[in-house]
Amino acid sequence: MNDAVEANVLPNEDALKAAGSEHLFIHASSYRALANDTSKRILVEGDGAIVKDIEGKEYIDGLAGLWLVNAGHGRQEIADAYARQAGTLAYASSTQATTIPAIELATRLAELTPGDQATAFFCSGGSEAVESAIKIARQYHYFNGEPKRSKIIGRRGSYHGATYGAMSVSGTRPASEPYHSPFMHGVLHASPPYCYRCDFRHSFPGCDLLCADQIEQIINYENPKTVAAVIAEPISASGGIVVPPDGYWARLREICDRHGILLITDEVINGFGRTGRMFASEHWDLVGDIMTIAKGLASGYAPIGAVMCRPHVVEAFEGDNKLSHLLTYGGHAAACAAALKNLEIFEREGLVANSQSMGARLRAGLEGLSDHPCVGEVRGLGLLVGLEMVKDKDSKEKFAEDGPELKTLGEGLAERGLLTRIGGVLPLSPPLCITAEQVDRTVAIIDDSLTEMEAAHGIG
Ligand SMILES: Cc1ncc(COP(=O)(O)O)c(C=O)c1O
Repeated sequence: MNDAVEANVLPNEDALKAAGSEHLFIHASSYRALANDTSKRILVEGDGAIVKDIEGKEYIDGLAGLWLVNAGHGRQEIADAYARQAGTLAYASSTQATTIPAIELATRLAELTPGDQATAFFCSGGSEAVESAIKIARQYHYFNGEPKRSKIIGRRGSYHGATYGAMSVSGTRPASEPYHSPFMHGVLHASPPYCYRCDFRHSFPGCDLLCADQIEQIINYENPKTVAAVIAEPISASGGIVVPPDGYWARLREICDRHGILLITDEVINGFGRTGRMFASEHWDLVGDIMTIAKGLASGYAPIGAVMCRPHVVEAFEGDNKLSHLLTYGGHAAACAAALKNLEIFEREGLVANSQSMGARLRAGLEGLSDHPCVGEVRGLGLLVGLEMVKDKDSKEKFAEDGPELKTLGEGLAERGLLTRIGGVLPLSPPLCITAEQVDRTVAIIDDSLTEMEAAHGIG
């Protein structure tokens, strides 16, 4: 708890909102959003899966902040671990030195991550991890005598971050196109394995994984010797919690291997227990050549991310082959100490197993809502679950993202005490320590809010 909360002397709410509205440029929002957008709140404290706003109203944190407070809110021991290290040595520059927590965290990650991903490059978040992975992949090929291998293949719908390279490989980039194009050169996008809305109007298994084979068609058309990497989330969160069908990952892994292309698995959201396994790759025995991680690594207690590399990747950087990439905050000692404590809690409290069991309960509860006329599909793994909403189940017509129906739904959920993000898919990704009672309450809130929305807009 911060001092103001502890002493119960919160600044005047109206004055805070006025100051915040004037001086705080909130991400992905318009100016003065705090004053003008009723969905913006000032949160003051949290405990487990619950957060409280400045008016004292409590909410279930349905998205764990932004898919990251995996260990839950109010973990004093993570704060203490951070403070201890910050008071001893907060920072050392990677140009001269490293620190004990950085070495310990890299070693722990080598134990936890899939296969032989044994070497960590630290950074301060997911976009930086993706940016770093792209640069490592390109330099890997350069040092291996293939400097023309620079192209990156992403998938439509995926999100890999907001910095230029990460934005460019993201399949959500059409939304940024009016403002930020031209994007990074040499990026191509393939179809996602989104069976509910298959680009090819096929269904699994009759499709024989055409969406994976399309990636090979792109590779062949471009000339395989010009392609550096394929980047993909094992389960795409931004794409709508898209769980690929059986065999997809084995096929894509095999295609990349056959063409000497690196596979970058982006586990920024999927990692750290989110899908009921420590890493989503484990569901398919998948080992990316490079894996990006962030978010749940320190559960939001410190900004930290990393790129995990397999031996054949880092071995390209031996001798004079230096990595041409440096980030000031990479390996921040106090952030590493927070991440280590976070991972200790995961183990002690069995948070990955709780994600699996509470995730199954959440999915079962949401599947029980399928009689609602607007529930199209429920999907996900562990505590990464999505409920896709449609205007009509046969046509699968979508609701407009900024339309009145989703506005009513968003207001209804918040009013009843559930925070999440509203789009065509209602995503749920709460802290992994969520209880059965909180899961059931989440389902009940969604049930009531859907009923309200359907009645208000004459759906069904
Ligand atoms: C899969 C994935 N990769 C990368 C990022 C970028 O992470 P950050 O926002 O920490 O830069 C995100 C953010 O949501 C993400 O979902």
